[in-house]
Amino acid sequence: MEMRVWSESIRDTIRFLSQQRESGRKFIHLDEGLLRGLKAPHFERNPQACLSPETSAPSVGQKCVGDKQAAYAQLEAEIKACVTCPHLVSFRTHVVPGVGNLDADIMFVGEAPGADEDAQAEPFVGRAGQLLNRIIKTMGLHREDVFIGNILKCRPDVDSSAGNRKPTPSEMETCIPWLWRQIDLIQPKVLVALGDTAVKGLIPELRTGITKIRGQWLQFRNIPLMPTYHPAYLLRNQTLALKRQCWEDMLAVMERAGLPISEKQRGHFLSAMS
Ligand code: URA
Ligand code: URA
Repeated sequence: MEMRVWSESIRDTIRFLSQQRESGRKFIHLDEGLLRGLKAPHFERNPQACLSPETSAPSVGQKCVGDKQAAYAQLEAEIKACVTCPHLVSFRTHVVPGVGNLDADIMFVGEAPGADEDAQAEPFVGRAGQLLNRIIKTMGLHREDVFIGNILKCRPDVDSSAGNRKPTPSEMETCIPWLWRQIDLIQPKVLVALGDTAVKGLIPELRTGITKIRGQWLQFRNIPLMPTYHPAYLLRNQTLALKRQCWEDMLAVMERAGLPISEKQRGHFLSAMS
């Protein structure tokens, strides 16, 4: 493409994105209609032609600005098709992009799929997942109310099918852009990082371990981030003190997300989670 046409295209694209942002739109579903719209010669004179059906004149890009569902479906399809890490691609049964409510106020981030998750294509469905479900329920929520994702979308390969291994820093760095895109799309009010890997995946420069940092608010791209223990760690270390700390972290999360907190919830952190 000629240089002048290139720079015009880039300028038009930037202008289009700025208009979208100014009109409060946060999600743009990139499809052929939109690309055609951006390339159309009349775009410069009539950028409205490329706006979504809710706004005025839908024509060139009637489908060009999709909703959150469509944008997520597209992202999920891209995640499922990812073949960047050959050793994980050959080991995996399923890619595990994430699950839950796209309008969730609270987003839980774990480490990586384990054997159960790899088999079922859903995060946190094994033993740790059952504990996470109990925690969510104790918060007065259902699994369907929140969004649950992981730093890695593929199960880290291991020699035998028993046991899991932590993702390597390089695997985390490779995979994290998917989670960034999920977070940008879902825009939760609060992020919960489950365990050390989750918090380091989101904030790689952090040097403090989870046991020191848990319970203290951090930030990820202006979103409050609460680091807490991984449910698998709580299962391995069944002490009241740890469970209580985790529940205190969840109370702080509920407060930050604007959820009601009952007296029972304030006082009770044991029976429902044990
Ligand atoms: N542990 C995780 O970190 N993620 C899962 O999805 C399951 C277990
Ligand atoms: N170490 C971890 O990796 N996770 C925890 O939750 C606690 C200790």
